[in-house]
Amino acid sequence: MKKVLFAVVVFAALLVAACGGGGGGDAAVIEAVPAEYAGATNPFGADAAAAGADIYKVNCETCHGPQGHGDGPAGVALDPAPKNLPEIAAQVGDDFLYWRVNTGKEGTSMVAWKGILTDEQIWQVVAYVRTLK
Ligand code: HEC
Repeated sequence: MKKVLFAVVVFAALLVAACGGGGGGDAAVIEAVPAEYAGATNPFGADAAAAGADIYKVNCETCHGPQGHGDGPAGVALDPAPKNLPEIAAQVGDDFLYWRVNTGKEGTSMVAWKGILTDEQIWQVVAYVRTLK
């Protein structure tokens, strides 16, 4: 049992080492969207972004910062700190963002928003994240 645990810890450390060196550039590994979320498209249209602005301000900005650069007052102290959202958004589809906001990101302080925000609110905030630069 101990050996297995050790192997898991070593593997996790390697994984962190492999992913951590990118400095937030496009070297970051983009995970595959699970089947349950893959291909999901925003059913609320581009107008959703306007409503998403308020949702973002209230729920996301303290960590992610006003433009999603990871420089919110609560974000700078986190380990791992939030990365650059517009940079990530440019590399992924809506399904990725929708999945991430729904289920959170394991091993980070990014919580699952499903159940806290409604499905519509999650799509609205995803649309808003798309407008960040
Ligand atoms: C308590 C601080 C905190 C709050 C509040 C928060 N996040 Fe996060 N978020 C993080 C951290 C830490 C990460 C993981 C590091 C990273 O990849 O950015 C993360 C990751 C993400 C990612 C994925 C980035 C990736 O590489 O997979 C998205 C998208 C995201 N957050 C959007 C949001 C949205 C939208 C909200 C509001 C509904 C929100 N976050 C609220 C801290 C927070």
